[in-house]
Amino acid sequence: MSTQVPEEKEQSETEQEVNAETEAEISEGASYGDQRRDQRDAQRRQSVSGAPADIEGESFRLKVFRYDPEVEGKMEPRFDDFAVPKQKGMTVLDALIYARDRYDTTLTFRHSCRQAVCGSDALFINGRQRLGCQTQISDLEEPVRVEPLPHQDVVKDLVVDMEHFYDQMHAVEPFFQPEEDPDGDLEEYRQTRENREKIKMSTRCIWCGACMSSCNIAAGDNQYLGPAAINKAYRFAMDEREGENMKEHRLNVMDQEHGVWRCQTQFSCTNVCPKDIPLTEHIQELKREAVKQNLKFW
Ligand code: SF4
Ligand code: FES
Repeated sequence: MSTQVPEEKEQSETEQEVNAETEAEISEGASYGDQRRDQRDAQRRQSVSGAPADIEGESFRLKVFRYDPEVEGKMEPRFDDFAVPKQKGMTVLDALIYARDRYDTTLTFRHSCRQAVCGSDALFINGRQRLGCQTQISDLEEPVRVEPLPHQDVVKDLVVDMEHFYDQMHAVEPFFQPEEDPDGDLEEYRQTRENREKIKMSTRCIWCGACMSSCNIAAGDNQYLGPAAINKAYRFAMDEREGENMKEHRLNVMDQEHGVWRCQTQFSCTNVCPKDIPLTEHIQELKREAVKQNLKFW
């Protein structure tokens, strides 16, 4: 496994002009990324405050896992080092984008919303599952080490195969199934404020897969539904609008060998969830509900 600090490529005149503009932006304190958006932001900041935002003026070492099964010479996993200028407010995702755009366009990773909503950039950063777009460089020790989510097959560089995760999510029927239509002319199927409060946190899941990747049990049991799917089941099992029959059906899906009983209450999922969902608590509550459902009184 080799590490290297890549040299910048030779630039054409046009590239040099673009880079000169980018450096001008950096000197004004704009975050790296969408250049036009950042330019607008920088202009707006200047027009509001009359002064550019701070920059720290140093570089940090970004250490990125690399692997490409389709290219000879890149099939052996390795780490590449990139020197990235530290900028105020810079996230790990910003740094990856910088490294890709400046040093190596083959560097591959997923991202979309850049605001902790789409769940596509869950990564293993400095030994912990985190969203790249939610993780500030200033909060990390250097070098900043970025790897794909553990316990998932790597497709290329930082991209993992999410198919198994999605299969587990779909196995719990992650959609609303009421037994009756709402009363009267209501277009919405409203729930009580109390019931909304009960399931509120469980609805925040963004399907990032961080919890599943952190779970020792899921790593050793491919059939275990896993914390995200169980949380999704909780979201519907506890929704009073679905009715008792559906709740019983949902608890039966949970109350099986590879369901809630596999959880060993290690809290690793809860610790890494970027949306602060109390996953372990939800799993425990479903265990209690499953026991209650099976209690028989003669
Ligand atoms: S429960 Fe949290 S960690 Fe797990 S997939 Fe959903 S948002 Fe990600
Ligand atoms: S890019 Fe969408 S969650 Fe990070």
